[in-house]
Amino acid sequence: MEIILKEALPEKVPLLLHTAVLIGTATNRGEDFDIYLGLDNGMATKLKMLSLNQGDEALQENTSDLERFGKGSYEDWYSKGRTPFALVHRSSGALAAFVWFGPKELGRKSMKHLSDEERKDEYKESGGDWHTIAFRSYPPFRGTGVMTDFVKSATDIYMKYFPNAKLWTFNSRSNPASVALSEKLGYKIDESLSDATTVTMIKQ
Ligand SMILES: CC(C)(COP(=O)(O)OP(=O)(O)OC[C@H]1O[C@@H](n2cnc3c(N)ncnc32)[C@H](O)[C@@H]1OP(=O)(O)O)[C@@H](O)C(=O)NCCC(=O)NCCS
Repeated sequence: MEIILKEALPEKVPLLLHTAVLIGTATNRGEDFDIYLGLDNGMATKLKMLSLNQGDEALQENTSDLERFGKGSYEDWYSKGRTPFALVHRSSGALAAFVWFGPKELGRKSMKHLSDEERKDEYKESGGDWHTIAFRSYPPFRGTGVMTDFVKSATDIYMKYFPNAKLWTFNSRSNPASVALSEKLGYKIDESLSDATTVTMIKQ
């Protein structure tokens, strides 16, 4: 995917809730996209609807988004210092892909793998330089090759705001698309922080 990023960026992140700033454009297979830092209200509503989509088996099996954004509140999630980026299909306005970053203790599992007690600390800050990344693409854009370049660009921008950040990601071992994409982006499995069903991957 070809991406053109704007030079001017907001001074700091996270932006005010429901603020979305156009930071670039992209073209993939003849389709045009816009890249935003932050999600406005309309995009957050789309994220909620996509997260509630029980027909999206890959999303439901591999993420906690049904609970996080579908039943839960984007606004609560955002208040914990998350920095989201959106890839929006220009002609339809559809949310094609979504990636977010935020400070999080290395190796901390995602919501669906935590007990009720452990979930109370879900947004606990790491206290160190560890920041997590998570990404999603949505049908009909999933599998069309938008992710590698979109996530790379979002990562470069995030690192401008947090130059000392050490990035890691958490995946189901049985999620080949996500593990392969993470590897392509330079993340390596740390077996000492992984188990039979999940992997923690650290950016090298
Ligand atoms: C994981 C996910 C974001 C990958 O997005 P995608 O739209 O398939 O990504 P792309 O089409 O841009 O492909 C990027 C790379 O991913 C890898 N990949 C994608 N699908 C794959 C699959 N089914 N098997 C193996 N590798 C795959 C490839 O390495 C590909 O590189 P290539 O273009 O050189 O072949 C997407 O499948 C998704 O949103 N899944 C549901 C949610 C999820 O699991 N998120 C991750 C949890 S943190």
